[in-house]
Amino acid sequence: MCGIFAYLSYFVEKDRRYVTDTLLNGLSRLEYRGYDSAGIAIDGDSETETVIVKQVGKVSALRAKVDSSELSWDKAYTVQTSISHTRWATHGQPSPINAHPHRSDNGNEFTIVHNGIITNYKELRTLLTNKGYSFESETDTEIVAKLIKYVFDSQRGQHISFTDLAKAVIKELEGAFAFLFKSVHFPGEIVAARRGSPLLIGIKAVDNLTADFVDVEEIANAVAASSINEDKNPAYAKRAQSRSFSRADGSNQPLEYFLASDPSAIIEHTRRVLYLEDDDMAHISNKGDLHIYRLRRDDGLSSIRSIKTLEMELAAIMKGNFPHFMLKEIYEQPESVVNTIRGRVDFNKHTVVLGGLRNYLASIRRCRRIVFTACGTSYNSCLATRAIFEELTEIPVSVELSSEFLDRKSPIFRDDVCVFVSQSGETADTILALRYCLERGALCVGITNTVGSSISRETHCGVHINAGPEIGVASTKAYTSQYLALVMMALQLGEDRISMTERRREIINGLRELPNLVKEVLAMDSNIKELSQTLYQQKSMLVLSRGFQSATCLEGALKIKELSYIHCEGIMAGELKHGPLALIDEHIPIIFVMTKDAHYPKVQSALQQVRARKGNPIVICNTDDTNIDDAVLKTIRIPHTVDCLQGILSIIPLQLLSYHMATLNGVDVDFPRNLAKSVTVE
Ligand code: F6R
Repeated sequence: MCGIFAYLSYFVEKDRRYVTDTLLNGLSRLEYRGYDSAGIAIDGDSETETVIVKQVGKVSALRAKVDSSELSWDKAYTVQTSISHTRWATHGQPSPINAHPHRSDNGNEFTIVHNGIITNYKELRTLLTNKGYSFESETDTEIVAKLIKYVFDSQRGQHISFTDLAKAVIKELEGAFAFLFKSVHFPGEIVAARRGSPLLIGIKAVDNLTADFVDVEEIANAVAASSINEDKNPAYAKRAQSRSFSRADGSNQPLEYFLASDPSAIIEHTRRVLYLEDDDMAHISNKGDLHIYRLRRDDGLSSIRSIKTLEMELAAIMKGNFPHFMLKEIYEQPESVVNTIRGRVDFNKHTVVLGGLRNYLASIRRCRRIVFTACGTSYNSCLATRAIFEELTEIPVSVELSSEFLDRKSPIFRDDVCVFVSQSGETADTILALRYCLERGALCVGITNTVGSSISRETHCGVHINAGPEIGVASTKAYTSQYLALVMMALQLGEDRISMTERRREIINGLRELPNLVKEVLAMDSNIKELSQTLYQQKSMLVLSRGFQSATCLEGALKIKELSYIHCEGIMAGELKHGPLALIDEHIPIIFVMTKDAHYPKVQSALQQVRARKGNPIVICNTDDTNIDDAVLKTIRIPHTVDCLQGILSIIPLQLLSYHMATLNGVDVDFPRNLAKSVTVE
């Protein structure tokens, strides 16, 4: 949902080629957040000049435009600031003029990049138009660039700082944002602010660290050793405090900053990062000093932020030998499931310990009900695990789509436990649902893949799924890891129920076998690829099952539609006779997920009903299923595991099928049209 990136260097000579390369590389890491257009704003040939280059399409198109532009490449400055953006259109279609950075005027006095939505932009646009401003784009963002110039011009003659100026502008805005402001009136300075959209700052002191920075490094190491729960431990928080950095000896030692929507754009430069909180404003001065302020002074919240050390590896955000991130991430599942389980399951004692929940188990067990809230694939992982959660904990569980939950303003009480599942930890609807539940006093639990994300910071406790960075827009390994994390949470919560001992033992034994079984399913890729050749030109498809596999149908159908652009519906077999049966004929492709569990006989009878209407299903079934004749029906045979874990195996053929159909349809798999990885707007 738009990626923003800035590169700032102080007392280190970097030429323009280095600056533009750094920006473009940063943007390509963020491209999954939006890829309809991109742009950069860099220092011009004099202090009073900013150069903007923008292009429609992916970052590679911008790179080509930058390369062919007539910039003096060896121009180097001791202090310089540059900002950039990759866009997912919300207001105004993809075009060079709607691309960011936006500017205040033809002279580029103020340039800004924005991730989010300004909801009162129409009123502000009318106001500014009445004041004589004209607009070149259709975006909500451009009003911010014009507004800052308007405030600056009206204050001309009086000294106003860049931060006061930006604050005055932000006061007028409604909606969500992460902003970066750059101005020729404040050379060497950058103002960054966030409300509702993520933003973090990477800090790289090139050499000769001063005492200040050595302290920070030690703190960072201490924080790195902590987990999600320990991050919130006051002991760490106390040691890791900082609201400003300045060189103690006032020297001009080299220093670089990297500001970005997510750590993947920063990791190749530095591991030391500071996450801005909502309503934080960061100012970096022309000496390279960083200061953090609160936008709402009266909120009583501290502006002290901790420095963290990023633990991800650069290799994890590279494609390696795979043609697409999505395929790499599908193939990573034998490892990602291990990483989700690692250190948390004792296979001898048959116990599960999720450290992040340890101190909250009693409160969760006492609750009246559990409400899972999520969007898209994350929502499907909640559906997939609801039954086992209820079975093991005997607590009623409801599953909510974040947006619908908010629309309904569903009643939430102090004795509810609300679980927020999100790969990115930054999905706007899920964050808003979380805040709604926090306000009502519920205990809030986060299940995310992103350490330091808004959801992991704002929940009371939680579990990191540890699937590793997921870059492909379509979620794959995060789904299987969310699924596992939720099953493990249910196992841990249910450990006080003697009646469940055998069932828990069965599932924990199943967890041990799972990584190898995932490998076995992946080994069938070439068969699935072959199958995709018979399906990729279809207009519409159905995926059908029930019970533990209902969520597999919904998730499989979501993968197929978002990647292959083929309409696909997941159908609960129990509902077949209540309408969908009308769709069945000899033409429509139907995939049955029909693995051996208590619901098998009912799915089998749905299969008969479909066959009786000349339907010709493809069946995902277990390797040892002798009821299905491979000579009569096409089958994808997967290994058998415990019923409640089977969905982790049965989704993989559908992930692979959607991938292959998408490539056959010429879809840019990692960047399907109109989508973005992290949906940070409502
Ligand atoms: C589909 C997909 C989306 C996300 C949804 C929620 O492949 O990736 O449906 O699952 O946008 O995102 P997170 O999990 O980041 O909250």
